[in-house]
Amino acid sequence: MKLWGGRFSEEPDKAFLEFSSSIATDSYLWREEILQNAAYVYALNDAGILTDEEKRTIIDALRNMYLNTSAGRPFWSREDEDIHSAVERSLFELIGESALKVHTGRSRNEQIATDLRLFLKRKILEINSGILSIHHSILEKARIHIDDVIPGYTHMQRAQPVRLAHHLLSWFFMLKRDFDRFVSARKKMDFCPLGSGALAGNSFGLNRKLISEMLGFKDPSQNSMDAVSDRDFVLHFLSQAVNLILHISRFSEEIICWNTKEFGFVEVGEKYSTGSSLMPQKKNPDSLELIRAFSGRVIGAWVQVATVLKSLPLTYNRDLQEDRVFACEISENMCTVLRIFSDVIRTLHFDVERMKEAASDEYLLATDIADYLVRKGVPFRKAHEIVGRVVKHSEESGKKLSEIELDELKSISPIFEDDYYEIFNIELSLEKKTSVGGTSRSSVLTQIKIAEEIVVREENWIKEEEDKQRKIFERLFGSAYSNI
Ligand code: ARG
Repeated sequence: MKLWGGRFSEEPDKAFLEFSSSIATDSYLWREEILQNAAYVYALNDAGILTDEEKRTIIDALRNMYLNTSAGRPFWSREDEDIHSAVERSLFELIGESALKVHTGRSRNEQIATDLRLFLKRKILEINSGILSIHHSILEKARIHIDDVIPGYTHMQRAQPVRLAHHLLSWFFMLKRDFDRFVSARKKMDFCPLGSGALAGNSFGLNRKLISEMLGFKDPSQNSMDAVSDRDFVLHFLSQAVNLILHISRFSEEIICWNTKEFGFVEVGEKYSTGSSLMPQKKNPDSLELIRAFSGRVIGAWVQVATVLKSLPLTYNRDLQEDRVFACEISENMCTVLRIFSDVIRTLHFDVERMKEAASDEYLLATDIADYLVRKGVPFRKAHEIVGRVVKHSEESGKKLSEIELDELKSISPIFEDDYYEIFNIELSLEKKTSVGGTSRSSVLTQIKIAEEIVVREENWIKEEEDKQRKIFERLFGSAYSNI
């Protein structure tokens, strides 16, 4: 069913028609499209445009379309121009004439803006559930590895020993900020455009508050031109997605390095590795490589949408259709990536002996030697210089730091005493880092406790929002179908 054409005498070019169709990517939005149609029908009934009988017939038909599509029998076909025309066509096929009233005062411009907001709100719930699941995986590993030690790196050079739990929790807190950023992005898009018309507003006195409430939005949007023309919320969503995937790509890169023979710190589970078609010995961490590379797509999507929006005049322009591929595909793939990544972490096997051996490199304690001198009254800058000479002496003499004799040390600085040899105990080094957020056992246990509280808050947020999500369906179609 073509939604326009009365004023045309020529048929559109076939190639152009195909090129302009958005049905392939619009199909991501079918749920939202049906729900907003139902809300609109309630408002039309409320405004006296549809009779109670017509309302019931249309709502029943929409519900059936929803149930059929959920059961694998979609209502759209490749010939439909977009998801909006697909709903109208199917409704007409199902119930005839009364379907022709549904588009009263309505424009696809407001429909697509509404679909996208509803869709991204739903996807953010899924994305945050994905982050929560990674949080669980990290926490589980952190609890197990509280007493295992690993070298911490700067510049990819061994720097200072840390607890493995401490290292893993650093990723926890990064991802927590991503979770919060998505919560905030969701709030900012929580306004309902429906009832804005093509750009100027609705002339049938529709109750926009009612529509907004039925669809689970916080409020109706305040300006119809803004409502149909801006996609800042898509860009904002993608910015949060960029932050998130940058974290995930860095984390993936780290595991890929740790999984090499050179590091040998960890083994990626077989479920998430692949072999080589030529080299029989290979077990490659392809899952993490693909996840690492997915970041390119997300960054590309942000750039693409920003480029479409740049200098676009008000209000709706067909250019806006180009946001779809990115907003929908990225969010869909992001959910998959997070699910896989969470399980990759959960199934990692750490070689704690190998990590310990790497962390036992005495040079990692050079800063502790400087601290030792500071405690004996040497100003830090001088202590740094002295320890630099001790390290040089160790390299030149081929002796480990703990093997240097006291008289050799004294020739570098008379401050050194017998207790110098007590420094070479990693556990003691770790236990000195009692500052908030440090790597001592108690500090890491505090981090774990805080992380556990965060996880509870995240779980509650997701549960509450999922409940609200479910209620949208119940309000529109009745509670008998609430498990859809
Ligand atoms: N398929 C269109 C889109 O996705 C729907 C809006 C069409 N509006 C119009 N004025 N042609 O943006």
